[in-house]
Amino acid sequence: MSGYIKPSPLRHIQEVATAMNSTLDPDRLLDLILERCIQICEVGSGSLMLISRGDEVLDIVTFRGMNPSVRTKVKLRVGEGITGIVAASGEGMIVNDVTQNPHYISIKDDILSELAVPMIVEDEVIGVISLDSSRKQAFSEEYLELVSTLANMAAQIFKNLQTFRQLEQKNKIQQVLIDISRTVTSTLVLQEIFDDVMDRLDKSLNLERGSIVLFDSEKNILKLSAASGLTAEEMEKGVYLPGEGVTGKVYESGEAVIVESIVSDENFLNRLGNASHFKNNPENVSFLAAPIKSDTDVLGVVSVFFVHKKYVDLKTYLDFLQVVASVIYQAIRIQKLIDEEKREISRENILLKRELKNKYKFGSLIGKSKSMEKLFEMIQLVSDSRASILITGESGTGKEMIASAIHYNSSRGDKPFIKINCAAIPENLLESELFGHKKGSFTGAVADKKGKFEMADTGTIFLDEIGEMDLNLQSKLLRVLQEKEIEAVGSVKPKKIDVRIIAATNADLEELISQKLFRADLYYRLNVVNMLTPPLRERPEDIPLLINHFITKYTSENVKKIKGITREAHKLLMSYSWPGNVRELENVIERAVVLSQLEMLDIQDFSEISGRILYGDEGEDVEVGVDPEASSEVASSKFSPAHLDALDGRAMEVVVGEVEARLIKYAMKKFKYTKTRVAKFLGINRNTLDKKIKDLKIDY
Ligand SMILES: Nc1ncnc2c1ncn2[C@@H]1O[C@H](COP(=O)(O)OP(=O)(O)OP(=O)(O)O)[C@@H](O)[C@H]1O
Ligand SMILES: [Mg+2]
Repeated sequence: MSGYIKPSPLRHIQEVATAMNSTLDPDRLLDLILERCIQICEVGSGSLMLISRGDEVLDIVTFRGMNPSVRTKVKLRVGEGITGIVAASGEGMIVNDVTQNPHYISIKDDILSELAVPMIVEDEVIGVISLDSSRKQAFSEEYLELVSTLANMAAQIFKNLQTFRQLEQKNKIQQVLIDISRTVTSTLVLQEIFDDVMDRLDKSLNLERGSIVLFDSEKNILKLSAASGLTAEEMEKGVYLPGEGVTGKVYESGEAVIVESIVSDENFLNRLGNASHFKNNPENVSFLAAPIKSDTDVLGVVSVFFVHKKYVDLKTYLDFLQVVASVIYQAIRIQKLIDEEKREISRENILLKRELKNKYKFGSLIGKSKSMEKLFEMIQLVSDSRASILITGESGTGKEMIASAIHYNSSRGDKPFIKINCAAIPENLLESELFGHKKGSFTGAVADKKGKFEMADTGTIFLDEIGEMDLNLQSKLLRVLQEKEIEAVGSVKPKKIDVRIIAATNADLEELISQKLFRADLYYRLNVVNMLTPPLRERPEDIPLLINHFITKYTSENVKKIKGITREAHKLLMSYSWPGNVRELENVIERAVVLSQLEMLDIQDFSEISGRILYGDEGEDVEVGVDPEASSEVASSKFSPAHLDALDGRAMEVVVGEVEARLIKYAMKKFKYTKTRVAKFLGINRNTLDKKIKDLKIDY
């Protein structure tokens, strides 16, 4: 046959065995064995095919001297062609003239002879090595034997390497799973979990371009939620309908799927343009997708691409991906639970806040009259604006309470609420109180001092009794309102401030303006919103609420056991005109609660009120304009049936007591507390006077 000296077969075997042992890479091993066989047989081309597990197809894994297109074009079934027959029979074959063999399938034009040997391990054919020659009679039995031996050696080593690799793969997978579960337990942010999972799949397992789609039940679509290696724009395209494409099908069926080669599967939509990413060897790219699901519902799909050599065990990867999917399912479920809890908590928070606000509004600012309801409404309306507010109303009608309700209901509610009573501070100190001063700016200014305006920065300042402010300070205040900045006494540097102003007065500012005691421009600045607190006598329906409120308040403050008020006493309080408004009512109840020894507050606990009613001098001091000679007259003329009813059974006692007390007080004052003179004036003796002072609890 050929005229060269063949090296001994044993040497070939030894050499190839040594070479094969130097690689741990099964791909490299298969390359190497084919190359050596071609060298040994001195032929031009050859290929190595492996039987794909399960589907009995021979896939070209490596080849020499052929057009690369054979890799995709040639798909031999086991039993088909010479190679297929060898794969099926497990027997090597020499065809020394292919033109004469009916089984031969031509994959290359100039081939005349072929040698094909099976690769067998443990009685199983795993592949075929075939060598081709352009000469007839190119192969001898000797070659067949030698190549068969080498093929079986290679098969064994290949198998070992594959097992080794699978073990390695499993170890790696195990490690990746451990890492992923660590991430899942260390963060609760879903996106972080997704990103980490993708990153690990990519780095450790060469699973590329992973993505997670989740079902959006509102829109009825599957939406890309996380992906590695995609731009935001590409992410936008990641929308599938259930059932659409591989991803949609996995979602719909709840079954994991392997697409062995993305180029040959018609279901593969390539919506994200991944195929072009793998343009170098798209036929080696598989797509694995697993549902993110529980027994009852599917939330989405996790998928990865995998670039590999044909004989890789994709099933192991799919199993792995399913575990990853279940980890993701848990993460999503936990996230959902947390979101729900958060929502629940924030709902509770809102409720609590609302309750607090209401408590403020209705718990301490009492009132159900139309005019009060209107005020409450107004508080809500003006709270969140920055507008200045002027609260006017008689003394004791609740101006200060309204001011704090506005502040605490506003967005400034958690910022300072600073009150200053302009009437209570000497004129010369008020400026420094309001705006602060620099050290040394006047005698006594031993250090810098912050003014109330600065303290109220970002919050609210309440200027009570604004009518008492002198004209000079009024212009300074006006400047603050206009410029929104303050200047401390002795400072040259103005300071920007953000303060909401609420002012209050029981004076008639318009009257003061006409007397040139109040600046009209300041009035208009302050009076952006005007709130009028109605006097108590104009809203008697609020009195019972207030009575109860104050009884409860002072009973608990003074640890008393008072249960309520008698009908008579209630009637009495209802018939009074309350010139001192709510404050007066509050004081009256407080005193009654403190002094009462019984469970029910009764008429005698409110003797000063009955006295005022009887004498018709409600709210006025006892000594003003009372003519003792005329008092019985006054008393009888002011004796209304309502008052008498209220005093049922004790009218004489109460009325006489009141008259006596007033008379004694009048005389005490008139005779400068000289009791002998008073007794003489009253026509009683000293002892009787002392006894009456004691019994009637007259303090002087
Ligand atoms: N609507 C109300 N509900 C409960 N308490 C009220 C109400 N209005 C006033 N009060 C009570 O009455 C007292 C006087 O109220 P406040 O100090 O707000 O009145 P004012 O109008 O500022 O009086 P003044 O003009 O004398 O300063 C306070 O103790 C307050 O608690
Ligand atoms: Mg006040």
